[in-house]
Amino acid sequence: MCGVVGVTGNPNATEILVSGLEKLQYRGYDSAGIFVDQPDGTNYLVKTTGSIADLRKKIGPEVQGTAGIGHTRWATHGGVTIENAHPQFSSDERFYLVHNGVIENFQELKDEYLQGVHFHSQTDTEVVVQLIDKFVKDGMSTKDAFNKTLGLLENSSYAFMLMDREDPETIYVAKNKSPMLIGLGDGCNVVCSDSIAMLDVTHTFLEIQDGDVCVVRPNEVIVNDPTGAEVERETFEVSVDPTASDKGTYPYYMLKEIDEQPNVMRKLSAKYLDQVGQPVITPALVEKLRDSDRIYIVGAGTSYHAGLVGKAQLEKLTGIPTEVHVASEFAYETPLLSEKPFFIFLSQSGETADSRQVLVNVNRQNLPSLTITNVANSTLSRESDFTLLLEAGPEISVASTKAYTAQIALEAILAKAVGEAKGVAAAQTFDLKGQLAVVAQGMQSIVDEKNEIDQIAQDYFVQANQAFYIGRGIDYTVSLEAALKLKEISYVHAEGFASGELKHGTIALIEPGTPVIGIITQAGTAGLTRSNLEETAARGAKTLSIVRQGLARPDDTFVIPDVDELLAPLLSVIPAQLLAYYTSLNKGLNVDLPRNLAKSVTVE
Ligand code: F6R
Repeated sequence: MCGVVGVTGNPNATEILVSGLEKLQYRGYDSAGIFVDQPDGTNYLVKTTGSIADLRKKIGPEVQGTAGIGHTRWATHGGVTIENAHPQFSSDERFYLVHNGVIENFQELKDEYLQGVHFHSQTDTEVVVQLIDKFVKDGMSTKDAFNKTLGLLENSSYAFMLMDREDPETIYVAKNKSPMLIGLGDGCNVVCSDSIAMLDVTHTFLEIQDGDVCVVRPNEVIVNDPTGAEVERETFEVSVDPTASDKGTYPYYMLKEIDEQPNVMRKLSAKYLDQVGQPVITPALVEKLRDSDRIYIVGAGTSYHAGLVGKAQLEKLTGIPTEVHVASEFAYETPLLSEKPFFIFLSQSGETADSRQVLVNVNRQNLPSLTITNVANSTLSRESDFTLLLEAGPEISVASTKAYTAQIALEAILAKAVGEAKGVAAAQTFDLKGQLAVVAQGMQSIVDEKNEIDQIAQDYFVQANQAFYIGRGIDYTVSLEAALKLKEISYVHAEGFASGELKHGTIALIEPGTPVIGIITQAGTAGLTRSNLEETAARGAKTLSIVRQGLARPDDTFVIPDVDELLAPLLSVIPAQLLAYYTSLNKGLNVDLPRNLAKSVTVE
């Protein structure tokens, strides 16, 4: 993954780089570094393991410059060490390079071209900067050497920024698969993985495309397309509310984002449903979906889980068969497609490389697509035919919460719009506006009872080394999401399981005291899940339950308000989000920045 930033033509380069990296920490936070250069030849390289705060501490007042590049790392090749942190540099320290992506054939290139060269890191990136240096020493210009090196990279993803100490105001940029934007400033230009990093400098960005190679100087940006021709790329404006990513008085973003969910439901309802509850969705999108014979939902992690709920909603409300796929699998093991497929990409960030690879394939076949994302102008949004925005506000905590519920609510709205266009009775009679109001109120009542959930986390989860969420149908899909939340921030090994499947093997893992939480919101399967929960209790499990009011019994642990069964995940997931939060908090972990993870996963 990783985040990259660059600036040229600004005397405040160091601060621009460091504050840009602070905003890109969601892309990785195991180590970081900057290289800054001045036209008089003075230059500085500062690298550290740890966070951007650690990097900031290491930067002394002498580290000044007008141009530079920076990097925040999520390790792929090579452990978390200062040597492996970027910028990487050539042996003679003329060239400095930052990279987001993976070079698949780095070993082959090293063996073929760089025998005898001393390497100071274990990264795939160093091979690239050493190759550029070699080709320059062989007589090429820096630009030609950069281009030649890019031509040797096979099956690779990259967003590169290269600096040459002999031409300190120029940044060479190249992009393939990994996101990269150029920001146009006043007498200075910037480069970044995500516009959020550079909004203090500019709101105008240039969209560069895969295969483009660019030269960025203080007063000019030259873009060459993959054929080498100089091209103009379109600019776009980014506007964001600067206060939206403020943590306020919350100890962690995750808690703030959990608490924001009732409001997100209201915002979605206000934006996408009119006064009388009719969906307000672009007619061309509704038409394309109505005419499709099969919907393919593609996503990763939490977004994939939201897609599983969307399948139930779309099939029930539109009658169109719907498949949900893990993006990283679909990209390279594409199933047989129907005659008139329609693709829906679910992605909070709009940048996930696995999902984007599927979209690239879809676009190659000229198939219609929609991206449902939280980030306007993100790569997936720009590259698909239609976009629906989640309107959830920035999601900063690595563990996704409000994006999941926003995706589910928006899928329901979309399903109603398409179902109505097809004349499906279930869609016509679905009072979605009313139900979303119930959901918003229900979410509020659950988050207001957080202290109770804190206590349960302390009593049963903090000491646990494993836990199970179980359910059937739509409840099973929520179990998957609930278990993911617990795993990723509290490091308790958790599984979400189809409750009927447990007895076919996995029940062997149940030990005295193992927490097993049954999710029960669907009338048709409530009794069965209860029996399966009992089976684990009979083997010593500590059983808990998250149950919809109409199905509740006096001894249930969490009773969630009654709501249409298709929207029940919007409520049943909230106690699970809070359980994960409090387990992590009570274990003294960093809730927002769990180990080994990154918010936006931009490598395949
Ligand atoms: C888990 C989580 C991840 C993301 C996944 C896809 O809490 O956030 O599983 O859902 O990495 O990311 P997006 O939705 O940005 O494509």
